[in-house]
Amino acid sequence: MSRFATEYHAPVLLSPTVSHLVTKSSGVYVDGTLGGGGHSQAILEQLDENGKLFGIDQDDEALREATARLRNDARFEAVKGNFGFYDVLLAPEYKGKITGILLDLGVSSHQIDDPARGFSFQQEGPLDMRMGNLMRLSAEQVVNEYDLGELRRIFYEYGEERHSNAIAKKIIESRPIATTAELKKAITKVVSGKFENKTLARIFQAIRIEVNRELEMLRQALEHAVEWLEPGGRLVVISYHSLEDRLVKHFMKAGNFEGEIPKDLYGNNLSPFDVITRKPIEADDKEIAENPRSRSARLRVAEKREVQEAA
Ligand SMILES: C[S@@+](CC[C@H](N)C(=O)[O-])C[C@H]1O[C@@H](n2cnc3c(N)ncnc32)[C@H](O)[C@@H]1O
Repeated sequence: MSRFATEYHAPVLLSPTVSHLVTKSSGVYVDGTLGGGGHSQAILEQLDENGKLFGIDQDDEALREATARLRNDARFEAVKGNFGFYDVLLAPEYKGKITGILLDLGVSSHQIDDPARGFSFQQEGPLDMRMGNLMRLSAEQVVNEYDLGELRRIFYEYGEERHSNAIAKKIIESRPIATTAELKKAITKVVSGKFENKTLARIFQAIRIEVNRELEMLRQALEHAVEWLEPGGRLVVISYHSLEDRLVKHFMKAGNFEGEIPKDLYGNNLSPFDVITRKPIEADDKEIAENPRSRSARLRVAEKREVQEAA
């Protein structure tokens, strides 16, 4: 077990993440997903006394945990908020001066393991699923108030679930639904047996993405990186499902979400980034054995290009 892992959370792909992110020991870095502060602590160990690290999280518990861990380090500053808005969370003087941005997406082990947060179908809890108290919508509202078309859409788009329509109908029939166990019961009336756990995971994931506007916030954060990174600065993103990974891959390649590289009249590549990882970096068997959560992790890295050519 790595010395950076705690009961709160074990940071995944720690060594490649930090080595790709930290290119300058006196640089300014943003950890947009502070969590338990494992990645942040490892980043700080690579910085000299002039380095600076902002750690953003929308979850008060994560901020408490990480600040307790890193509070003696004057180079570290915790920031409460959504990483989709780091352009307003950070002082404008840092625009174009950031050396590295890290996004380790999704929820921490602590958030999943706490039944009171309602993220897991394995434990009974209230239908909450908000990563922090800044989100207005809860899972309970999605499950009890969305109409058939809206539920079907999120299950299909965010869960890539084949039985979206039947599950959405069963949920509507089973209302009111107050807990994760009640939601699980409604879903398993449609799909049970061999496929039950995968279906439950997809539907819970879809609701979580909707509640936290995860894809929208990721898109915003990626777009801000074009202006906030300094030339040569690195964007490092760890994703845990294909929807996120596709957005990241396209954006790093082309600077847009379609993945179409903009070109000038002469056919020159005008993408704002150079892709550093042609293929995503994945956890090895040892890490997966120690930390099963790392199994789905995909790490991608891009570097802000030195010269922005005119279109
Ligand atoms: C996978 S954990 C990060 C773990 C962290 N790298 C560590 O080493 O402990 C993701 C964290 O990011 C936070 N988070 C996820 N999406 C966020 C967003 N859009 N804005 C701010 N924080 C977010 C979650 O609350 C959670 O604490």
